[in-house]
Amino acid sequence: MAGGITVFVCSLVLLCSLTQGQDCPPTINQTLTGKRIGSKPVWNVIIKNTCDCTDLDVTLSAPNFQTLIPVDPSILSKDNTGHWLVNDGKPIYKGNNVTFTYAWDRVDFSVFDYRVACS
Ligand SMILES: *[C@@H]1O[C@H](CO)[C@@H](O)[C@H](O)[C@H]1NC(C)=O
Ligand SMILES: *[C@@H]1O[C@H](CO)[C@@H](O)[C@H](O)[C@H]1NC(C)=O
Repeated sequence: MAGGITVFVCSLVLLCSLTQGQDCPPTINQTLTGKRIGSKPVWNVIIKNTCDCTDLDVTLSAPNFQTLIPVDPSILSKDNTGHWLVNDGKPIYKGNNVTFTYAWDRVDFSVFDYRVACS
């Protein structure tokens, strides 16, 4: 009886720590739209939270990022470390995404940092 309770409590603790420590960055997916601005191709970028938890304070590394189409700074803005803050650092909830379009040679976006919040 006591043994059964111990196992039950432990599995609860394990479940919680797995969820808390979940390493689950948003995915970044970009595709060519087929359009061009001047000599530069136009890309559509989708940053998607495929986790069971919420991602927030997401920053990207985007070497040499430039664009001929302005990107809404509430979607993507350069921070004071040279990385790019997504969605003003606000939560991207489970299954949601943030998208933007840019016109330049392909930029190699990657997730630099993020936080996970599980409810
Ligand atoms: C990007 O999208 C394609 C098509 O929807 C999908 O097959 C691929 O897994 C996605 N890649 C990432 C990194 O999410
Ligand atoms: C991104 O979010 C929009 C609006 O919620 C949705 O219509 C679209 O299907 C989503 N795209 C992906 C790739 O999840």
